This record gives sequence, structure tokens and C-alpha cells, in this order.
Amino acid sequence: MTTGPGLFLSLEGIDGSGKSTQSRLLAERLQHSGREVVLTREPGGSAGAEEIRALLVAGDPGRWSPETEILLFTAARRDHLERKIDPALARGAIVISDRFADSTRVYQGAARADLRKTVDALHDLMIGREPDLTLIIDMDPDAALSRGLARDSGEDRFEDMGQDFQTRLAKGFHALAEEYPDRCRLIDGRGSAEEVAARVWRAVEQHLQ
Ligand code: ADP
Ligand code: TYD
Repeated sequence: MTTGPGLFLSLEGIDGSGKSTQSRLLAERLQHSGREVVLTREPGGSAGAEEIRALLVAGDPGRWSPETEILLFTAARRDHLERKIDPALARGAIVISDRFADSTRVYQGAARADLRKTVDALHDLMIGREPDLTLIIDMDPDAALSRGLARDSGEDRFEDMGQDFQTRLAKGFHALAEEYPDRCRLIDGRGSAEEVAARVWRAVEQHLQ
């Protein structure tokens, strides 16, 4: 679905599932291919989007309504796309994004509220881009939450929405993998980071073949 010669990969999953670790390990591995690799993240990834991120990830869980969140995440994504992702893909780079539009589909569209139609409408209007391949790191919500909160990052607004919320998210990501079987691969997130990385790599290799 990428326009231009690049390759667009995204990693998704619940908070603490290991996405950031796996994004970094995948970037290191792909760098050996000799192609330019751009490792980025959402919310954020460009200067403007990082400013919007600060509004979203800290503070009281009820700070924003789900509708306002959809607008803020989409605004951040649009800036990220315009300034970083699209130019990199046009140069032929491999872009690895730690979260992209699937997070909005699951967090705002299914877990926080039943707003999937609104998420999709805004996505079509303002983003209109899907990754070529999406790796969903599948983790038990209890284990992931204890990993995530152990970091004590000060960016725990969504973790603070509680265990039921994390369970709804995990279900939402499973449903998403079924909805987009051609693009999404569910990766078992259990075991060491190296074990998970080997599973991620198999899925990427399969896609490249
Ligand atoms: P996410 O980006 O999904 O929130 P991270 O990659 O930041 O997840 O991982 C959350 C925490 O768990 C970090 O402290 C990280 O070092 C640790 N971690 C990541 N992968 C594993 C793993 N396979 N086993 C144990 N701990 C892990
Ligand atoms: P992130 O930094 O990836 O958090 P973590 O490392 O804990 O997984 O993302 C920050 C939070 O923003 C995370 O709880 C998920 C949430 N989020 C949404 O709710 N909607 C979105 O569209 C995105 C991109 C993230």
C-alpha cells in the first residue's frame, strides 16, 4: 500500500507488550541490509507530533474524551506522515513505526469507546495510508502491565485506565489481526526479547519473499 519505493512496517500491541524493544531490534537487524532504516514512534515521531504526545500520555485518565483523543492522535499522525514517514518512503527507506493507525482503531475505536466508524472516517480523510506489514506483539495483559508500570515513565495515562481496559485492548488487537489477515501478523510476545525478535524476523522475511 506504500506509494514510493520504500517499505513501511508498524509494530502494535498493548502497553508493555515489548513493541519498543522489538522495533529497535528489528531496526538493528534491517540496517545490515544496507538500506536506510528510519525508526520512529507514535504518538510522536516529528517535532509537532511530539508536542501533541505530551498532551496525550500524561495526566488524569479522564483528561480528554475519546472523541478529542481521536482528533489529537490523528493530528499528530498527519504531521508525522507529512514530515517524516512520506519523505522517508519516497527516498526508498524502510520505515519502522512503533504504533500507527491500528492503535487508534483499537484504543479509541474499540477499548475506550465504540467509535470505530469515527476513527475510520477521519483516517480516510486525513491519513489514507496503511503499513505494508503490521506486527502485533501478543502479550498477556497482566504480564504486560507489570512490565509497563515497572518502567515508571511518567507517561502512564493509558496504563492507569486499569486492567479491564488492557484486556479489552488485547481482544481488540486479536480482532484487528482477523480483520486484516493480509497485512497483520500476530506474534507471540512471551519469552526473552531475543526469542520474540526471532519470531518478528521470520514474519518480516516471509513478507519480503
Ligand atoms: P512497549 O513499547 O510495548 O510498551 P517495551 O519494549 O518498552 O514495551 O517493554 C516494556 C518493558 O519490558 C521494558 O522495561 C523492557 O525492557 C521490558 N521487556 C521488553 N521485552 C521483554 C521480554 N521479552 N521479556 C522481559 N522483559 C521485556
Ligand atoms: P506508547 O508510548 O507506545 O506507550 P507504551 O510504550 O506504554 O505502549 O503510547 C502512548 C500511549 O498512547 C499508549 O498507552 C497507547 C496510546 N495510544 C492511543 O491510545 N491511540 C493511538 O492512536 C496511539 C498511537 C497511542
